[in-house]
Amino acid sequence: MKKIGVLTSGGDAPGMNAALRAFVRYAINQGIDVYGIERGYEGLLKGNYQQLNRRSVSDILQRGGTILKTARSAEFMTKEGLALACDRIREAQLEGLCVIGGDGTFAGANELAKASGIAIAGIPGTIDNDLAYTDYTLGFDTAVNTILDAINKLRDTMTSHDRACFVQTMGRRCGDLALYAGIAGGAEAILVPEVEYDVTKLADLVLANYKKGKTSDIIVVAEGAGKAEELAIVLKALTKISMRSVVLGHIQRGGSPTLQDRLLGARFGVEAVKVLQKNQVQVVGIKNNKIITLDIDKALSMKKVFDKKLLNIANILAE
Ligand code: F6P
Repeated sequence: MKKIGVLTSGGDAPGMNAALRAFVRYAINQGIDVYGIERGYEGLLKGNYQQLNRRSVSDILQRGGTILKTARSAEFMTKEGLALACDRIREAQLEGLCVIGGDGTFAGANELAKASGIAIAGIPGTIDNDLAYTDYTLGFDTAVNTILDAINKLRDTMTSHDRACFVQTMGRRCGDLALYAGIAGGAEAILVPEVEYDVTKLADLVLANYKKGKTSDIIVVAEGAGKAEELAIVLKALTKISMRSVVLGHIQRGGSPTLQDRLLGARFGVEAVKVLQKNQVQVVGIKNNKIITLDIDKALSMKKVFDKKLLNIANILAE
């Protein structure tokens, strides 16, 4: 293997730069030329790529976002787009490609591997932690810590005013961001798309908490489970307790990656080069703190299992 490409695609995630740095530097160490493709599949279609050297990835380890930029490409998902992507790969004489992104990015990579025949390595980069085959995705830990910081600050002001607050997190259809930040932030309730909840029971819980002296409930709500603002209005009507709501939004996607995400980035980046060297079409991941690889097909067919036990623990600890 002499010439490979790398791109970041879909929503950015802290740690993408750390993974890119590791991928580029390890590949160069192995005598392989690396080309950085700008703005994900969009850049591949336009032929926007340039050779990267060790210095191209200097001073990025600690930065959020992605220096390669990212995009969600509708054109790439069409038959014509896929054919054009194959042409571009042939023109550039790429023998392998590393894609850093989430499930949509992997699904695209799988199609590209089938159509072009080149080796592909997928690095799971998304704050959502919604990929079943890996314990953690790159960026999740940093995002959870960002949410935690917000919860801590909200707790200060809610306690001072005897108010309850709904805090809405990202995560699409996955409740992990809400669950992990909720348990670590001592939330009184955590609402996730994977588990049904009843608003009347939630109101009873808030009232019961108030009676026992817990007068500043923090209720973390995953975006797939409801809207913080609407829930606050309904709960206020049911309890008459002063309520506020906060949508954390894209703040969760930025920031300097944590130790965990930098370490994951380094380990994933190196393993991705090894996948390409073996001429495979695989994703890299982490299971029980061991780096693993898996065929993309298999990884995409796995269904994420929500950790209900952890939610149960969070609820008991919040009593
Ligand atoms: O997949 C990452 C994510 O941040 C989700 O949590 C969220 O639903 C979505 O992307 C937001 O997308 P956009 O940046 O396009 O608004």
